[in-house]
Amino acid sequence: MTRLLHIDSSIMGEKSLSRRLTAELVEKLRGDIPGLEVAYRDVAAAAPPMLSSALFFARGAGTEPEDAALRAELSTARDILEEFLAADIVVIGAPMYNFSIPTQLRGWIDHLVVPGKTFAYTAAGLQGLVTGKRLIVVSTRGSLYAGNEALSAQDHQEAYLRTTFGNLGVTDFAFIRAEGVGLGPAQKEEALASARRDIAALAAA
Ligand SMILES: Cc1cc2nc3c(=O)[nH]c(=O)nc-3n(C[C@H](O)[C@H](O)[C@H](O)COP(=O)(O)O)c2cc1C
Repeated sequence: MTRLLHIDSSIMGEKSLSRRLTAELVEKLRGDIPGLEVAYRDVAAAAPPMLSSALFFARGAGTEPEDAALRAELSTARDILEEFLAADIVVIGAPMYNFSIPTQLRGWIDHLVVPGKTFAYTAAGLQGLVTGKRLIVVSTRGSLYAGNEALSAQDHQEAYLRTTFGNLGVTDFAFIRAEGVGLGPAQKEEALASARRDIAALAAA
């Protein structure tokens, strides 16, 4: 059985383009992969707990915190990590906001980067512990960045995701991109059509 984790992070609700595209992508994979099991987390609807000092130290303490609110945060943080580790395929709707990713998505990632679980420090440097996972990012952005050297340098969205998950050990990346959606209706339609072509062309495995 193949397990897919579907993450949405857009704050734009029904107007969101990344939500539209991740939904279409997951439907396509459901058709391609018999018995696909899908877990869904909307980090904009229910923001992950912020990685505070208290939560950070509680995570490594080895005992349950006495404070009920902190216990609940720790439980959510553990669920987020377990869901990620259990998935064979992770689909992330990752719009570019302010040259980076939505705050809530960053908050989700803060619960994945855990020493001893997803990476280890070794004498040779950082070693990713995440293997055999396929990551598909739906990237939506208002301007055009790909292939433009000056604007690519301002991309702290795709570059951040590639760096972070790459350091955790992920090697199987795909980026489904709808770019320039703020540059007028024609460019927006072309961007969506291009993303849909890329979704259709995605291999099932
Ligand atoms: C709060 C906010 C910040 C944004 N910042 C950028 C930006 O820095 N660069 C850019 O090219 N587009 C930016 N955009 C445009 C979005 O990337 C674009 O609207 C995209 O469709 C967002 O995905 P979504 O529709 O799923 O939310 C921003 C949009 C919002 C709402």
